[in-house]
Amino acid sequence: MSEKIIAPKGLAGVVTDETSISKVMPEINSLVYRGYKVQDLAESCSFEEVAYLMVNDDLPNADQLKAFTEKEKSYRGISDDLLSVIGKFPKGAHPMDTLRTGVSFLGLEDDRIWDNSPETSMDKFIGLLARIPTIIAASYRHHKGLDFIAPDSSLGMSENFFHMCFGKVPAKEIIKAFDVSLILYAEHSFNASTFTTRVITSTTSDMYSAVVGGIGALKGPLHGGANEQVMHMLKEVGEASVARQWMLDALAEKRKVMGFGHRVYRNGDSRVPTMKKYTEKMASFTGQEKWLEIANILEDTMVGEKGIYPNLDFPAGPAYYMMGFEIDMFTPIFVMSRVTGWCAHIMEQQANNRIIRPLSDYVGEGERAVRPVSER
Ligand code: COA
Repeated sequence: MSEKIIAPKGLAGVVTDETSISKVMPEINSLVYRGYKVQDLAESCSFEEVAYLMVNDDLPNADQLKAFTEKEKSYRGISDDLLSVIGKFPKGAHPMDTLRTGVSFLGLEDDRIWDNSPETSMDKFIGLLARIPTIIAASYRHHKGLDFIAPDSSLGMSENFFHMCFGKVPAKEIIKAFDVSLILYAEHSFNASTFTTRVITSTTSDMYSAVVGGIGALKGPLHGGANEQVMHMLKEVGEASVARQWMLDALAEKRKVMGFGHRVYRNGDSRVPTMKKYTEKMASFTGQEKWLEIANILEDTMVGEKGIYPNLDFPAGPAYYMMGFEIDMFTPIFVMSRVTGWCAHIMEQQANNRIIRPLSDYVGEGERAVRPVSER
C-alpha cells in the first residue's frame, strides 16, 4: 500500500477519482454536464434530454430521444404491492423517508438486483427515473388522504408529475420553471450523496442500494434538505421589512443560514442566476412577489456582511413553494432529478471499480486489559 495521506476534515479539496460526467469550475462560476454549460441546457433542453445526456456520451438525436422517452413512459407504473405498502406508511412520515422505503421496495421486486451489467444498469436507471416521481406522488396523495392518480403516458415527465400530485397540469410557464430546476439539480460531481452512491457501488452492491444511500445522504439539511429549510426560513422571516434585521441577528448568533455557502463555490453558485431568473418568473406569474422580496434582502445582507453567496437551494425552495408544492416535497423533487447524476456515477464506478476504503486516525484509548464485569 502507498504511504499514508492525511486528508483534510470533510475531504475538502481532495480529488478521489476521475469522472467524465460533469465539471464544476468555481474559478469561473461554471458547471458543465459532459461539456455542455448547464445554463445552455436549462434554456434549450427538456429534462428528459438532460437525463439521457447524463448516462450517455452526448445529447440524444430525435430517434434516441423517442426511444428513451417511450421506455421511460412505459416504466412509470408501480405495482399494487408497492401501492399497498405506501398506503400503510405513517401519514406524518417525511416524504424523503417514504421515498427511501419505496425505492428500497423497487429493489425487492427486481429479480435482476445482482445484475450490474451495463445493459441492465441502464434499464434499472430508466425504471428508477420513471418510478421515483410515481412513488413521491403516491406518498403525497396518501399523506393527504386522497386517491392515487395513475401516471399518464401522454405527458412529459414534469407535466405527469404535477398530474399525479394534483390531478391537473399547470400552465406552461410553471412546467418550464420546474423542468429548469430539474436540469440544474441533476448533477454536481462528487457531492456528498453522489459520493455515497459511489462508495456503495464500489463494494459491488446493487443500484437500488446505492440510490437508497444517496437519498439518505441528500436528506440532510447541509445537503439537499436545505431547499426545504430555505422556505421555512422565508416563512419565519415573514415580512420584507424585518428581513435585514433577521439576517443580522442570525449572523450575530453565528447560526448557519440555510441556502447559503458551498464547499466548492466560494464566489457564487453557477446554477443560481438561471434558477433565480425562473423564481422571479414564478413570483410574477403567481403574484407571490413577497417571497422574492424577502429572499433578495436576505441575500444582499448575507453577501454584504459575510461575502457568502446563495446556493441553488436558495432560489429553488421558494420557486417550488410558488408552484404549489408543500415544503416537505422539495427534497424528494431534488431526488427525481439527482437520480440521473447518481446513476451516471454508479455506472461510471461499475465500469472502472476499486473499492473505496480510506483509513482513519485512531485517537481513542491506548491498549488495556479486559477486567471481569464484577471488577469494573
Ligand atoms: N451561514 C452562515 N455562515 C456560513 C454558512 C452559512 N450558510 N456557510 C458557511 N458559513 C461560514 C462558516 O461558518 C465558516 O465560517 P468560519 O470560518 O468563521 O467558521 C465559513 O463560512 C466557511 O464555511 P465552511 O464551514 O468551511 O463550509 P463547508 O465547506 O464546510 O460547508 C456548507 C459548506 C454548504 C455545508 C455550508 O456552507 C452550509 O452549512 N450551508 C448551509 C446549508 C446549505 O445551504 N446546504 C446546501 C449546499 S448546496
